[in-house]
Amino acid sequence: MLRFLTAGESHGPQLTVIVEGIPAGVPMDAARDIDPDLRRRQGGHGRGKRQQIEHDAARIVSGVRGGKTLGSPITLVIENRDWENWKGPMQVEARGFKSKRVTRVRPGHADLAGVLKYGFSDARDVLERASARETAARVAAGAVGRTLIAALGVDVHSCVIRIGDIHVSVPDGEVAWDSVERSAVRCADLGASARMVAAIDAARERGDTLGGTAYVVAAHVPAGLGSYVHWDRRIDGLIAQAMCSIPSVKGVELGAAVLAAQSPGSDVHDEPRWDAELGFHHLTNRQGGLAGGVTDGEPVWALVHFKPISTLLHPLRSVDIHTGAEINAHYERSDICVVPAGAVVAEAMLAWVLAAAATEKFGGDTLGEMRRAVAAHRRAVSRLR
Ligand SMILES: Cc1cc2nc3c(=O)[nH]c(=O)nc-3n(C[C@H](O)[C@H](O)[C@H](O)COP(=O)(O)O)c2cc1C
Repeated sequence: MLRFLTAGESHGPQLTVIVEGIPAGVPMDAARDIDPDLRRRQGGHGRGKRQQIEHDAARIVSGVRGGKTLGSPITLVIENRDWENWKGPMQVEARGFKSKRVTRVRPGHADLAGVLKYGFSDARDVLERASARETAARVAAGAVGRTLIAALGVDVHSCVIRIGDIHVSVPDGEVAWDSVERSAVRCADLGASARMVAAIDAARERGDTLGGTAYVVAAHVPAGLGSYVHWDRRIDGLIAQAMCSIPSVKGVELGAAVLAAQSPGSDVHDEPRWDAELGFHHLTNRQGGLAGGVTDGEPVWALVHFKPISTLLHPLRSVDIHTGAEINAHYERSDICVVPAGAVVAEAMLAWVLAAAATEKFGGDTLGEMRRAVAAHRRAVSRLR
């Protein structure tokens, strides 16, 4: 079974990730396989000052030897450079501890819900862990999962299709991934990219924030990952859960879900065919490569909707949890728009879910065993019954 745990506060000394269940023999190098994704998560127009402080890089401290995984737990460490500025308020020991208390809880953040849950009198006890800084750790775990499935032939990508009211169509076919990686907002359409950048700048001027939508896709996914036999083995549900667990994601569409809800069945369902070259395939892929909670051999794709982030330069009104007085919410240095970075996180989560499902179906102790199982399966599913 593949799983990962992350630990670390936003302004603590480091993020730690333990990834368990990666088979032995997967070539793994932090600079080549993990750090580029960490850099992509830090980018995107609309991010705040924190990203100028951090230069995220993963240090592998267990589970890899001589450039190959050992089958043992892989531990990754990402340092928080900003910790230098927070050593006092984030110190572990009680003696001499002086908090910078946050009592004016911020709307749209976990502050109040977390205070009510744990009985804290300082919302910093909540926000340090609820912060999306944790997504750096997830991107690192996702990069490990991506490295495994890439060795099995699966590619995962993402792009942005909406920021605020600027949008492009849902991709239908090939996307120019090079243009996406070059765009300041991870959008393949250069004209729309420029308009999205301008919309983010205008929001910043107004002291406001913007949300939007990312498209994530995985190509060459083997048919048969997930299962319809139990609700918690359905891979559609697992993907939806993974996406909705990303801070600020408020909705996920698997395939063309919203369009399908507005259309007659004759315009929605994907007709299967067989031929000697392609084997079993579908004429369209509106169901996002997913049927009955199982991958159907087509690319798996989803739309992930991000709310505008909660911290506003002109804060909303809130309450002080000590006095009960209505007051402006606490302001903490913040991004303006995180959709481009969020797309990279969504990509990592999709890679992770597919890696976990592939390990379950083809699992072996070694990459070689998995590769042979995947190759045999791909041959078997292309044959007529
Ligand atoms: C990559 C990334 C960076 C984020 N940065 C910020 C930020 O700077 N300011 C902010 O208010 N929210 C930010 N968020 C969103 C908040 O973390 C999130 O809205 C908050 O924790 C509450 O969770 P919820 O929106 O899922 O309910 C970010 C989200 C992501 C995915």
